[in-house]
Amino acid sequence: MALLFTPLELRGVRLKNRLSMSPMCQYSATEDGKVTDWHLLHYPTRALGGVGLVLLEATAVLPEGRISPFDLGIWSEEHLPGLAELARRIREAGAVPGIQLAHAGRKAGVARPWEGGRPLGWRVVGPSPIPFAEGYPVPEPLDEGGMERVLEAFVEGARRALRAGFQVVELHMAHGYLLSSFLSPLSNRREDAYGGSLEGRMRFPLRVAQAVREALPEEVPLFVRVSATDWAEGGWGLEDTLAFAQRLKALGVDLLDCSSGGVVPGVRVPVAPGFQVPFADAVRKRVGLRTGAVGLITAPEQAETLLQAGSADLVLLGRVLLRDPYFPLRAAQALGARAEVPPQYARAF
Ligand SMILES: Cc1cc2nc3c(=O)[nH]c(=O)nc-3n(C[C@H](O)[C@H](O)[C@H](O)COP(=O)(O)O)c2cc1C
Repeated sequence: MALLFTPLELRGVRLKNRLSMSPMCQYSATEDGKVTDWHLLHYPTRALGGVGLVLLEATAVLPEGRISPFDLGIWSEEHLPGLAELARRIREAGAVPGIQLAHAGRKAGVARPWEGGRPLGWRVVGPSPIPFAEGYPVPEPLDEGGMERVLEAFVEGARRALRAGFQVVELHMAHGYLLSSFLSPLSNRREDAYGGSLEGRMRFPLRVAQAVREALPEEVPLFVRVSATDWAEGGWGLEDTLAFAQRLKALGVDLLDCSSGGVVPGVRVPVAPGFQVPFADAVRKRVGLRTGAVGLITAPEQAETLLQAGSADLVLLGRVLLRDPYFPLRAAQALGARAEVPPQYARAF
């Protein structure tokens, strides 16, 4: 029996299999963060393709927290109708709709990749006045009031996501965006209670996780995505991730989605098939927290093998799903698994 196509129960939510669409920015919202026809085609297509969970791209909790001007947003009531329609269509196509809530911090305000990806000169915020890279703006350090505003925006975003019909919430604490930049000693040089020691650097992200957990009903699962390592000397690493995972688990976080990098530029990342799986494996086995494995997982047997090894509970698929929305249906066939498919497709199996 292929583990990949066994259900995963998380609080009150049942995923029909262990495959999730990984959050991927589409840079295709309106300039005020609203859903467009692109999203209404793009996401439900992946749901029809058979993933158990569709996690929406980084969706900004504040306008200044967008990576690009065309990111999805959830900072106002005006975002609700489009997001609700999107969640409804994903569910109707057979997947559980989930959403990644994000604030881009010092990496906010860049052009779309296909328009050069360069900083657009926005005023950005961060833990410390250290720009991400040359040509990026110097972030304004958040004071207590600023942090409170961000925390409230994450809570409001989570509440709005639920009202829109999303059933899983993921907090983006990876890739050098705001909460991730608080964790790493390379981007956080604060001398107050929110910097310095590991405890200090974890404080704000943990406060956000706690506040969002408290705002969510008991039956709604909360995921956190982290960069398990900065891949840089003197940066955040696996041991820090394990300590962070322990704290998140105690707060009631249900799954750690283990990515890496993005905090500082110019690092050497040993990119290879499944290269981030060992992080998910370590967190799952040493902390006893459920994990998601992501990164160059492109073959059905590869995904099945990592689940069999106990490295993760969920497999997140990124680019392979851009190339082939129907990867899960092909995987089910390749593994001889009985997948739950829409009745309209049943004859294909
Ligand atoms: C176009 C694109 C957009 C992405 N946007 C996000 C995002 O919004 N949030 C996030 O956490 N990761 C984002 N990622 C990273 C993916 O979720 C995933 O972790 C990464 O692509 C590695 O998985 P893969 O090898 O299966 O593609 C993005 C990746 C791509 C290719």
